[in-house]
Amino acid sequence: MDTTPVTVPEILRRKSSKKKITALTAYDFSFAKLLDATDLDIILVGDSLGMVSQGQENTLAVTMDNMIYHTRAVKKGVKRALVVSDMPFMSYQVSVEQALTNAGRLIQDGGASAVKLEGGTLMADRVRVIDRAGIPVMGHIGLTPQYVHQLGGYKVQGKNYLDSQKIKQDARDLQSAGVFALVLEGIPSQLAEEITAELKTPTIGIGAGAKCDGQILVLNDMLGLNQGFVPKFVKQYAQMADSLKNAVAEFIQEVKTESFPSQEHIYQSKQGKLKQVNDGN
Ligand code: KIV
Repeated sequence: MDTTPVTVPEILRRKSSKKKITALTAYDFSFAKLLDATDLDIILVGDSLGMVSQGQENTLAVTMDNMIYHTRAVKKGVKRALVVSDMPFMSYQVSVEQALTNAGRLIQDGGASAVKLEGGTLMADRVRVIDRAGIPVMGHIGLTPQYVHQLGGYKVQGKNYLDSQKIKQDARDLQSAGVFALVLEGIPSQLAEEITAELKTPTIGIGAGAKCDGQILVLNDMLGLNQGFVPKFVKQYAQMADSLKNAVAEFIQEVKTESFPSQEHIYQSKQGKLKQVNDGN
């Protein structure tokens, strides 16, 4: 395993080297440490933590304090992968100044190496200012979960000609503004392929087909930890919810039958010691 830290210039180089970028989300120390022990390039502290960790219906209630808390925890477990932290809803929309201040907090207080924000052309001024301050920015266009109410749900975007042209323009404007990578979420694979071919900036797809420069998934989805509806674009590489339930059922059974803890899991007093102490009392 390569232990060289993954940097923003390295992610940019992947466009020409054609070595795919791999990214997953993480929200805490334990999972981040496990991911960092693989060859994964990027760990995103996603605002999907609103759903995954907080049990919310969407990402909109996630705060800057939440993001800083989780980014710190993730960063503690990571020595090699590039840690990117999501800018939560309303932490960059109000003004360019607000965007820069909050991006700075994710770096200074959270320990992230880069930030990600959602939105296309209209957010290009935020990207430009944050980038010029020395903070690398990852863009995110297509199906942007923070716009869920405007989009009318989590629907694939760019399916008709006009919408696809708008997404292409978003991509161009974000590239001009200086994003170092661009997440393409929930768009037709043909559109993602065209954007990827046109841009110099690496694209990272989620529900956008295999022709992007890299792929990202929500960790809990790909581990099969989330129960219920599984979106079409998610591949479950493990069934960890089932493993967890089986482990807990076995624990309950063994506690009830006193087969846990067994000899190997208990401490012994030195022979006679407890008795002497008790006698002494
Ligand atoms: O919040 C998140 O997890 C994300 C990824 C799914 C791209 O934005």
